[in-house]
Amino acid sequence: MDVRTFWLAGRPATGDSSLTVTNSHTGQAVGTYSVPTDAQVEEAVAAAAAVTREAAALPVHVRAEALAHVSRRLTERADEIARLITAENGKPIFWARGEVGRAISTFRFAAEETRRWSGTAMRLDTEPAATGRLAYVSRVPYGPVLAITPFNFPLNLVAHKVAPAIAVGAPIIVKPAPATPLSSLLLGEILAETDLPAGMFSVLPVENSRASGLVEDPRLPVVSFTGSGPVGYSIMDSVPRKHVVLELGGNAAAVVLADADLDWAASRVALFSNYQAGQSCIAVQRVIVEETVAEAFTGKLLSAVGGLVTGDPLDEKTQVGPLVSEDAAIRVESWIQEAVAGGARLLAGGGRDGATIEPTVLADVPAGAKVVCEEVFGPVMVIETVPSVDAAFASVNDSKYGLQAGVFTRSLDVAFRANRELEVGGVIIGDVPSYRADQMPYGGVKESGVGREGLRSAMEDLTFEKTMVLTGLAL
Ligand code: SIN
Repeated sequence: MDVRTFWLAGRPATGDSSLTVTNSHTGQAVGTYSVPTDAQVEEAVAAAAAVTREAAALPVHVRAEALAHVSRRLTERADEIARLITAENGKPIFWARGEVGRAISTFRFAAEETRRWSGTAMRLDTEPAATGRLAYVSRVPYGPVLAITPFNFPLNLVAHKVAPAIAVGAPIIVKPAPATPLSSLLLGEILAETDLPAGMFSVLPVENSRASGLVEDPRLPVVSFTGSGPVGYSIMDSVPRKHVVLELGGNAAAVVLADADLDWAASRVALFSNYQAGQSCIAVQRVIVEETVAEAFTGKLLSAVGGLVTGDPLDEKTQVGPLVSEDAAIRVESWIQEAVAGGARLLAGGGRDGATIEPTVLADVPAGAKVVCEEVFGPVMVIETVPSVDAAFASVNDSKYGLQAGVFTRSLDVAFRANRELEVGGVIIGDVPSYRADQMPYGGVKESGVGREGLRSAMEDLTFEKTMVLTGLAL
């Protein structure tokens, strides 16, 4: 098996060791990749630091053309990349194709946004003493970005770091998840086809144990991390003076109120608790149902869950496949068993076969069980019945997390109330919390993180406002 190169300051390189990626469905090796040495990591950081000024001054058409090129090449290579995502991550090909489509859009949005990224003028002659003065306020990059990316969207969550960095003119070093680095290495291959200057990007698949050196390096003033809370907060605590962006976990709730379209709600909750085997920070985990419709809704939900197609992730019809590894599935299984031992009723699923967990529905789960309080990151949902809208919203907020919530209602009043009262970064009315459009602001409150993705928001996050005052003007 060929050893894949990594990307050091825009060029392919090999280190002196390698690691292998395994397909969790077949147990077979998917690919072997070369791991950078410490000296090569140092070279990449030095190159990013050296190109900082040139990157920030890159003409907009160069940045936009590079981003548009990536979008075009992802389109041309979509089938190959989707198959690679399925092979390294285990997600069904249907969802992998969706992820490639989203990454195509992410780079296209970035190409469009960078053309609109102009700064603003502010007249200062509001007071006599400032006659003839004008401020030009622009946003400039803090400097090179370290992006630490997760396994669950090995292409599009890398795109959400790389595309806005290029759009604002910031060099970027990507440290992909060790379980799924191959998609980001392929993205590096496409980035290397552009006219971006050397040093503008590196993809360094180093082991997690070596990431702290990069995190602490003062030449990388921004750390953008997507992953678990404990790791995210340990990064933030280790570099309190850096600009740290954290996209962390959640235990997302879908609220089903009495006026909802129950068929629609049931089909969406069933699918989006189980898409990617629940390995999304906004997969439906808690289902909070108003009691007058609880019986009818639960019946429809169980029938929708029973209709999900499970199996080989390469089969175009498969909706639910394996988790990223057997260890991950064993952990999820133990959480289900903990809930059941505590008195929870198992309404569906609960079984495990290797890395695959059956779509699982639990009710009457004891307070404090991990399947409610923590992020399951598996195909498991917990149903709770509540007497009122008040109780439903209180239950959504009874969580240390706050990423997104979905509310199935037809009432605009309730929609605006949800938007006011729910302690989350995004409220989705009439659909699951799992809805994300790549251009919209995305991120959490509470322990779900700080900062926002979504192209415009991420571009703002990677930059600070800089003011130039012009004097002596005839305005
Ligand atoms: C995440 O898991 O945080 C990302 C969800 C998405 O991009 O759909």
